[in-house]
Amino acid sequence: GNAKEQVIAAAEQFAKSELEHDPTGHDWWHVHRVVKMAEHLAEEEGADIALCKIAALLHDVADEKLNPSKEAGLEKVRQWLQGQPLTHEEQEHLMEIISTMSYSAGKNPPMRTLEGHVVQDADRLDAIGAIAIARVFLYAGWKGDPIHDPVLPPRETMTMEEYRHGKSTAINHFYEKLLKLKDKLNTDAAKRIGIERHRYMESYLEQFKREWEGEL
Ligand code: ADP
Ligand code: NI
Repeated sequence: GNAKEQVIAAAEQFAKSELEHDPTGHDWWHVHRVVKMAEHLAEEEGADIALCKIAALLHDVADEKLNPSKEAGLEKVRQWLQGQPLTHEEQEHLMEIISTMSYSAGKNPPMRTLEGHVVQDADRLDAIGAIAIARVFLYAGWKGDPIHDPVLPPRETMTMEEYRHGKSTAINHFYEKLLKLKDKLNTDAAKRIGIERHRYMESYLEQFKREWEGEL
């Protein structure tokens, strides 16, 4: 209803002000895409659309890259939610989604609710496909990693945390993360989109390798 529309508008302002200056691909336009995708998936899957949109808007505000710690980030979101016209159950549901949806937190249990599935899928779909390719190179540049290095193999055995602090390459990141995301999608609506975007990344990598080998 009206109260939910108010929360959505407020969450948009909150997310914009928190994410405005992020250089790592967690920018406002990423959030904007995730919100639109979450709305689409929620409609198709029959999830609570308003709740999905609020969770999508807030999903990166608590990111550890933008806060002193993940806990501090989550506390900031909790404080903010407490000032909103939401029930206790709604606040808890939103906190549950936001605190467990990250890929990096590989230890996270599977999402419990349909809304959690939808928002997690929407975030993951933004890391698969044409825009995802752009985000990888943006992130690699920010981190100081090269585009490609054929003598540096994908470091499959490392955790994301170790990986973040070491050197890798943009191309390796496809194998370490992006090409695995398709099989981690929860909903059928997202799987359909994911399969198409996954194919696009595979053909991009094939072309990349042809050019790297100097094929004419
Ligand atoms: P999440 O919030 O899902 O954990 P990340 O913070 O890991 O996302 O990543 C945000 C974006 O940056 C994604 O598109 C991801 O593919 C990309 N990215 C993350 N880590 C790296 C990396 N080491 N090299 C290149 N791109 C990366
Ligand atoms: Ni995100």
